[in-house]
Amino acid sequence: MVGQSPIQGILTCERAWVTIDLNALANNVRQLKQQLLPQTALMAVVKADGYGHGAVTVARTALDHGATWLGVATIVEGIELRQAGIDAPILVLGATHTVQEIETIVRWQLQPTLCSPEQALTFSRYLQYPLPVHLMVDTGMSRLGPPWQQGATFIEFVSRLPHLKIASIYSHLATADHVDSSFMVQQHSRLQEVLCRIQAQDIPLPKLHLANSAGMLAGPQFHYDLVRVGLALYGLYPGPHFQKTVSLQPVMQVKARVTQVKTLPAASGVSYNHTFITEKPITIAVVAIGYADGVPRSLSNQIKVSLRGQLLPQIGAITMDQLMVDVSAIPDLQVGEVVTLLGQDGDSQISAEAWADILGTISYEIVCGFKHRLPRVVVKGNCSD
Ligand SMILES: Cc1ncc(COP(=O)(O)O)c(C=O)c1O
Repeated sequence: MVGQSPIQGILTCERAWVTIDLNALANNVRQLKQQLLPQTALMAVVKADGYGHGAVTVARTALDHGATWLGVATIVEGIELRQAGIDAPILVLGATHTVQEIETIVRWQLQPTLCSPEQALTFSRYLQYPLPVHLMVDTGMSRLGPPWQQGATFIEFVSRLPHLKIASIYSHLATADHVDSSFMVQQHSRLQEVLCRIQAQDIPLPKLHLANSAGMLAGPQFHYDLVRVGLALYGLYPGPHFQKTVSLQPVMQVKARVTQVKTLPAASGVSYNHTFITEKPITIAVVAIGYADGVPRSLSNQIKVSLRGQLLPQIGAITMDQLMVDVSAIPDLQVGEVVTLLGQDGDSQISAEAWADILGTISYEIVCGFKHRLPRVVVKGNCSD
């Protein structure tokens, strides 16, 4: 159990929980590492509490199995890792600007992303000792960093500022998960153009990085010195066409208990607004998990859950803390039995990708949704119950 109050710890198996399988995570890290040349480092991206899996646990396991860098979005996320005793280099991928932020970065030995000349000046003016900094160039994501046409000028500017030690130059891919790789290739060429220009000015090249999970799986030409991998660590594919490139295992499973079983007559409305009406008498189970736990309400009436290895339809609106399932196919169902919302249950497998497809979103959003309320149970290997 991680990051929970003692009361939640006691009640873990009473209601609903998330399991985090460290063996699956270790497998994923090893599989990914095998695809890299020995000189390419693996950064485990553990922002947003490790995409809902628990940043500290994920970071420790990833570091134990071959990652050497950690990536976070915010300073607070970096501090959480340091407070847990993790001393690996941590890159803050988000922007930081204020003197208070700079002080905190220095104090906790975090490494900032610099994305504008103004920000670089603020850092340089405040710092008294050299600080490793990472320069972000925008090659087509249109997010942080100067546009690539100004990338070389920016890098040259920073290279002349005191106390800023350029540890890396990097960019972020916008469309690496697409089957059509043409824009990714264009971003790559833009980065190359920036690098040629700074080399022409005799600025030594620091470490270089470009790839997220999809970019990494797209091929070694995108690997450079470091790959920044999030999604694939957690056993999720950035797109179905990547399934042939590596064998990943989902790390997260979501389970909840049956809290009531009852029979409804035909023509009964189920849950708020009666979006499901029974056509015949059915047996339903009330299951103790809802949208406040991370099951999106807009999945109502659209998903199946697994019980005793059988897929069963969820019916009616998903409520804040509970949802209903048609369990007519299950004989003699008992209160307390475990329902699998996400993960493996016997031969049934329910994936975050499947939920994301129904909702027209990405699996990142699904797993991040489980970071708030449910206790996490850390397991190694088979965790069906
Ligand atoms: C700058 C940066 N690098 C790497 C990643 C990791 O991406 P992914 O989870 O697709 O591997 C992210 C995540 O969004 C990111 O913002």
